[in-house]
Amino acid sequence: MQLQENVSLQPFNTFGLATKARFFVEVEDEVTFLKSLDAAKPPILLLGGGSNMLLKNDWPGLVIKNAIRGIEVVEETDDTVLIKIGGGENWHQLVLWSLEQNFGGLENLSLIPGTVGAAPIQNIGAYGVELKDVFEKLEAVNLEDRSIQTFDKETCRFGYRDSIFKQELKGKVFISRVWLRLSKQNHSLHMDYGAIRDVLAADQIENPTIQDISRAVIQIRSSKLPDPAKLGNSGSFFKNPEISKAAFEVFIESFPDAPFYKMGEDLFKIPAGWLIEKAGWKGKKIGNTGSHKDQALVLVNYGGATGEEIWQLALAIQDSVEKQFGITISPEVNVIG
Ligand code: EPU
Repeated sequence: MQLQENVSLQPFNTFGLATKARFFVEVEDEVTFLKSLDAAKPPILLLGGGSNMLLKNDWPGLVIKNAIRGIEVVEETDDTVLIKIGGGENWHQLVLWSLEQNFGGLENLSLIPGTVGAAPIQNIGAYGVELKDVFEKLEAVNLEDRSIQTFDKETCRFGYRDSIFKQELKGKVFISRVWLRLSKQNHSLHMDYGAIRDVLAADQIENPTIQDISRAVIQIRSSKLPDPAKLGNSGSFFKNPEISKAAFEVFIESFPDAPFYKMGEDLFKIPAGWLIEKAGWKGKKIGNTGSHKDQALVLVNYGGATGEEIWQLALAIQDSVEKQFGITISPEVNVIG
């Protein structure tokens, strides 16, 4: 295992930011990870697919990229399979593999960028399904005492785009392997979110399979979310804000056409994309940065932008949404540095 020096992180973050790591190493198993800690030059940054982070500056220490591979079925019943996946596997490749085996559960999560090891950190979600719905457990190496710890669904403390790994354990554990439980038959299909049913109906599919749902999700995502390989971005930059019933009543009286989701008796979620569009940012370009023309929630790097420039745009958007609606939107991506 050898540390590389002064490595450009441009290929390793989907914003395509040309920041540099003072030291860099890719690790393919837990033993190499522990060795890299011995050679570590702090501070340490743990990297998955780099699809949910904004690197504001060069990284002065060691960047450790998770390259642990492997997808295997470890347990099987008549109805379900338990699969064990290396944290460095690409998420969408895993989804495609599961669909080839006709294993259900991941189809709505098709085409999400990033790695399997990063998926639990923000409890990835799309079209009515979240990682937690199929999650069984994970193993992670604790950077401080170097022990391998197991986390089940409860100890991960999953929330909306949230987990213990984004809170108390942020940057403190390296997620090495993840176990997911998928269905082998009688798949439960989730088609009620967004345009899934419309896309299936347009294709005249009456009894959709999990593969049909995946294709519909891919079609919807590709129509409004820019491909990071072509246009640097990190998916939704902000979370959809959740507000109390009292705040919601004031808001909806002023903006009766706003979309919203009732999450509980006293909890309402407002789409940040709508707020940002209404505040006039959709499709707006500032220098080499901007809010995407088809989905205002996605901030993009048109080429050559710095992390700091994207951050300044984010702050300006946050500020104007706050002023216009009295609602605070906060970043969903990991802002680093
Ligand atoms: N909207 C606008 N203008 C926009 C964008 C959206 O008015 O520019 C409105 C839409 O018309 C719709 C509502 O906002 O009424 C919701 O939009 P959409 O269905 O596109 O979803 P979203 O809430 O913006 C969330 C996730 C996405 C996920 C989709 C589908 C968050 C922060 N984002 O977006 O996740 O793919 O739902 O489930 O929860 C990600 O996390 O990176 C991500 C892309």
